[in-house]
Formats: sequence, C-alpha cells, structure tokens
Amino acid sequence: MGGVMHNNVAPEEHSATVIIGASGGIGSALVSRYLAQSNCETVFAVSRLPPPSSAAGSDTRVHWLVCDSSEEDVKRVVAELVSSGLNLHRIVICAGLLHNDTVAPEKSLDKLDPDALRAVLDVNLVTPALWLAALVKPLRRATGTVIAVLSARVGSITDNRLGGWYSYRASKAALNMFLKTAAIEYSRRSPGVKLISFHPGTTDTYLSSPFQANVAKEALFTPDFVADRLIKLLDEVQPDGQLSFLDWAGIEIPW
Ligand SMILES: NC(=O)c1ccc[n+]([C@@H]2O[C@H](COP(=O)([O-])OP(=O)(O)OC[C@H]3O[C@@H](n4cnc5c(N)ncnc54)[C@H](OP(=O)(O)O)[C@@H]3O)[C@@H](O)[C@H]2O)c1
Repeated sequence: MGGVMHNNVAPEEHSATVIIGASGGIGSALVSRYLAQSNCETVFAVSRLPPPSSAAGSDTRVHWLVCDSSEEDVKRVVAELVSSGLNLHRIVICAGLLHNDTVAPEKSLDKLDPDALRAVLDVNLVTPALWLAALVKPLRRATGTVIAVLSARVGSITDNRLGGWYSYRASKAALNMFLKTAAIEYSRRSPGVKLISFHPGTTDTYLSSPFQANVAKEALFTPDFVADRLIKLLDEVQPDGQLSFLDWAGIEIPW
C-alpha cells in the first residue's frame, strides 16, 4: 500500500482499531468488546506476549503483533500498521505498571527504590511516549482518529490528598504532561487526531489485585464494563486539538 494511510475514507468502511497492551486486563477486554461489535472489521492487537488461545487470539479479524516496546520495535509495528492502508480510527495505549515481583507502590519515602522508580517510568511514561512519537507523522491526514492513553486519577496533582505511591503517581502525572504537550503538537501536525488521557476507575485486573481489599464491591469494575465505557467515550469525543483527562464516566478530572 506504499506506506500511505487512506484516512480520507469513511471510518465505518475501512477502519481499524489498535489496542496496544492487548494481553493486559483492560487491553484484552477492549479487544473482545470491539470484536463483539458487528461492524468491527480489523483489530490490531499489540503485545509483548504471543496471542492467547482464547477466541480473540484465533479470530480472523485480529492481527496480533508482538512488540518489545523498544523504539525500534515500536517504529517497526507502526510501519506495519501504516502499510495495512486502513484508517487507524481508534488507538488505545494500555501500558501500565504498579507492581510486580520487584516493584511495589511506596507508602513512604523510606521505601523509595530507584530501580523500581525507573521501571515504573519506563512502562508508564516512556512506552506511551514512543507510540505517540511514532504515530504523529503517519496520522497527519487522519480524520476522526482518537488516541486514548490509560492514565490514572492518582496522576492528578490537584486530587492528591493521601500521598504515597510515589513512582506510580509521578509516572502518571508525567504521562499527562507528555500527552498535553503532544496534543499541542498533534493539533498542528495531525489535527484530525483527538488525544484522551483516561482513568478507568478501579478495575479488577492484575494491576489492582493486591489493592482491592478496601474497595467497595460496586466500585470495583470488570474490565468489560470499563472497555464498554471507553469505547462509547471514543465515539463521542470531538477532535478539538486538546488533551482531555476523563474518567470512565466521561467526567473531566482536574490536573
Ligand atoms: N486496573 C486498575 O484499577 C487501573 C486503575 C487506574 C489506571 N489503570 C491503568 O490502566 C492501564 C491498564 O492496566 P490493567 O489494569 O489492564 O493492568 P494489567 O492487566 O496489569 O495490564 C498491564 C498492561 O501494561 C502493558 N505492559 C507493557 N509493558 C509492560 C511491562 N514491562 N510490565 C507490565 N505491563 C506492561 C501490558 O501489555 P502486554 O502484556 O500486552 O504487553 C498490559 O496492557 C494501565 O495504564 C494502568 O495504569 C488501571
């Protein structure tokens, strides 16, 4: 297809959805909820991991692209997306790290571990930043494209009353500033693209699993619920050259 995107076609005719981080709790729900839509033609599922054995992994509308999140590999995958010739209508970047075997959210400064801080910044800030940088030029003629990046309410400086979770909070606040700055550049270079920083609410995934004890049952969302909310939100927003920081209910979060 000569590396040129056909973004002037009607989205419902030849459009594709791109889910980056497709093996995660929210990422995999987004893939399956998009597939449940009757007009869904193509989903590019990007992940560090190989395709799952579930229905989403074998659905012919899913193109599974393994990516190690290095700059080189992100550029390679973006080139592959562009060469499809499809209108990249919806792009959701789900990467996020709160804890793993060596990373735990810090309750106090005494717990700060520089390696953990770097690891969290790498996944929560550097990875989305690489995607935004690689996509700006290919999307220059896009119309009606929305890119949502999974952020978190705890990245709000105004909303920070409890403290703690230094690395995660700082990484999401930095992500928001990166996205705000990127939205200004996108409005000049790729004006048909709308950027959203999205807070899903506490969602029942690996990421939140150790921290659900004090969450009321009705305040703990299923990944499918959150995916449906986000899909609806992406259909409702208008390209306005601004970054919107929105929660699962579509309500603006203060910076
Ligand atoms: N769950 C919640 O309560 C909650 C609340 C607020 C915000 N969020 C945000 O929502 C997003 C999705 O999180 P989730 O709840 O779906 O969590 P999850 O199930 O743990 O998924 C983690 C996500 O991060 C991606 N990822 C890329 N590089 C990674 C790395 N080196 N280590 C770990 N993960 C990596 C994974 O993609 P692959 O494995 O496919 O590569 C996957 O999409 C994150 O940005 C998170 O901060 C979640």
